[in-house]
Amino acid sequence: MRCVNLKICLLNLLTLFSVLSLSHGRPNPEFRAKAVNLGGWLVTEGWIKPSLFDGIPNKDFLDGIGLQFKSVTTRKYLCAESGGGTVIVANRTAASGWETFSLWRLDENTFRFRVFNKQFVGLDGVKVVAVSNISTNSKTFHVEKESGNSNRAKTDDVVTADALEVNGWGDDDPSVLQEMVYNRIHIGCIAGPADPRELFPLTNGFMRPVIDVHYYNLFQYLFSGMTVQQNIDFVYNNRSSQLTHVTTSNGPLTFVGEWVAEWQVNGAAKDDYERFGRAQLDVYGRATFGWAYWAFENVNNHWSLEWMINNGYIKL
Ligand SMILES: *[C@@H]1O[C@H](CO)[C@@H](O)[C@H](O)[C@H]1NC(C)=O
Ligand SMILES: *[C@@H]1O[C@H](CO)[C@@H](O)[C@H](O)[C@H]1NC(C)=O
Ligand SMILES: *[C@@H]1O[C@H](CO)[C@@H](O)[C@H](O)[C@H]1NC(C)=O
Repeated sequence: MRCVNLKICLLNLLTLFSVLSLSHGRPNPEFRAKAVNLGGWLVTEGWIKPSLFDGIPNKDFLDGIGLQFKSVTTRKYLCAESGGGTVIVANRTAASGWETFSLWRLDENTFRFRVFNKQFVGLDGVKVVAVSNISTNSKTFHVEKESGNSNRAKTDDVVTADALEVNGWGDDDPSVLQEMVYNRIHIGCIAGPADPRELFPLTNGFMRPVIDVHYYNLFQYLFSGMTVQQNIDFVYNNRSSQLTHVTTSNGPLTFVGEWVAEWQVNGAAKDDYERFGRAQLDVYGRATFGWAYWAFENVNNHWSLEWMINNGYIKL
């Protein structure tokens, strides 16, 4: 996997090392890893354990987090149209990858933003766009705490930045945006090759190579608005065939190195989560090297395998 995020590659390497040392490197065809990623242990990610950042000013806005912005007036989300390369719009009713902006923290109140395709948010006249790969071409934004960001969602379609001074925080003020901190993790890895089989030639010459794929029903537009059953069907149909495609008899072993029983569905019942977790275990259990959940401990309960097991959401 062409991992864009070095931290994540290191963590994966760590997981693999622990898994390999458990197996003593012996080629045992029956061996399957059931593992968990140590997210938040070596690498501090604010969203995994916010209390680590107590005492840091504006600790909700740490470098690297993902934010989503919803207009209080229109109830619509800001979106980098096409994931980036063009304008920022404010006309989406649900939020996913294109609606998630990752934060570059310059200081506690000043930020730059990057969109799904990695461009920086900047200005073209009064239009807000995401076209430049170069951070210094981008605009720095002052994000005021409380209820918002001082950008204006002027029309349904095009966001303009001509109202940088906002007076008050009334719900009827179209410039008031509600910000939501969103789990940013691993968006980088989606930028890997569309077909992981492209990596097979690179594994020639390694002993017992393992290909690591990450399967989340998150971070991509296609999951917005999916029902519980559609998410489960996606695992049984689409993930299953993706995994079958990379699992070849004389190619590398396959490892679903990251997955989580979390999704875009709002207000799902415990039973829904159980079925979703079970579906993923059924399918990812067929990976020839095994799987690893993201993560072990996490203040967001569904992202913690420990919590999911202790509370009966996941049974191994
Ligand atoms: C930005 O980077 C991407 C990926 O490296 C590249 O495809 C694109 O052409 C670049 N855009 C500009 C405006 O340089
Ligand atoms: C949002 O606005 C853009 C720009 O006008 C338009 O191309 C796009 O179709 C709109 N999308 C939705 C979901 O309304
Ligand atoms: C999921 O699989 C179904 C059945 O093979 C297919 O029709 C559909 O296009 C796939 N969806 C996605 C988003 O890949």
